[in-house]
Amino acid sequence: MGWCAPALAPAADGPVGGDAEPWPVPTARDRERSRQAFQRIALVLRHPRCMNCHTGAEFPRQGDTRQRHQQLVVRGDFNQGAPGMPCVGCHLGTNSPDGRVPGAARWQMAPRSMGWEQLKTDRALCEAFVDKSKNGKRDARAIVEHINHDPLVQWAWMPGERQPPAIGREEFHALVRLWARTGAECPRD
Ligand code: HEC
Ligand code: HEC
Repeated sequence: MGWCAPALAPAADGPVGGDAEPWPVPTARDRERSRQAFQRIALVLRHPRCMNCHTGAEFPRQGDTRQRHQQLVVRGDFNQGAPGMPCVGCHLGTNSPDGRVPGAARWQMAPRSMGWEQLKTDRALCEAFVDKSKNGKRDARAIVEHINHDPLVQWAWMPGERQPPAIGREEFHALVRLWARTGAECPRD
């Protein structure tokens, strides 16, 4: 880092999407809105564009049918594939020009603790999503940050020849923010 670079320059769109100030204490009505927001969030989390990486299996999945990844690709010790066949050997920083091979920075599987496919109810999915022992020690604010900025999350809305989730990216960002600011509640079932 050069000493003329400004220290801690805010990101172009402001800290955590303008969310750095303290959040208001949620009312009971807010908490109910939060639960409802998560039910829509879950529709995206369960979409193949997310779930193909967020599996508990020892391999990623592919396609809308969520079949096992071809070429015997495996998770490997660090979620980055086998030593001789790393994910980034085929998945580059952007999609291939024909849109067939997905690409985004540091392509890799989500860790086992972030495997969501076996969680059948929205409540179970939400509880894993907010559990700091599973989610990379993220609080609600850090989850918002990840959703807004992580390249692998954004990729789901520029998936090459595949379909993105039905809820648009901006709407999804807004939903997650609403959910977080209204208490980061989990649905009752
Ligand atoms: C190419 C694989 C890949 C895809 C596609 C992907 N993720 Fe992830 N995801 C990861 C990895 C790897 C991590 C762990 C990153 C970390 O902890 O820093 C992660 C972590 C997360 C986390 C933080 C953990 C948690 O439980 O809160 C969230 C939230 C998340 N992803 C949401 C999504 C959503 C939403 C989508 C689809 C719109 C998606 N991801 C698509 C690989 C992927
Ligand atoms: C030998 C090359 C190769 C390796 C290694 C590889 N992939 Fe792939 N991957 C592909 C190709 C090609 C496709 C597109 C397949 C198609 O749709 O026809 C693909 C598709 C995918 C998809 C499907 C996206 C979707 O939503 O349908 C995911 C997820 C994925 N790979 C994750 C990974 C992960 C994670 C690793 C490392 C553990 C990995 N891949 C290793 C070549 C590879």
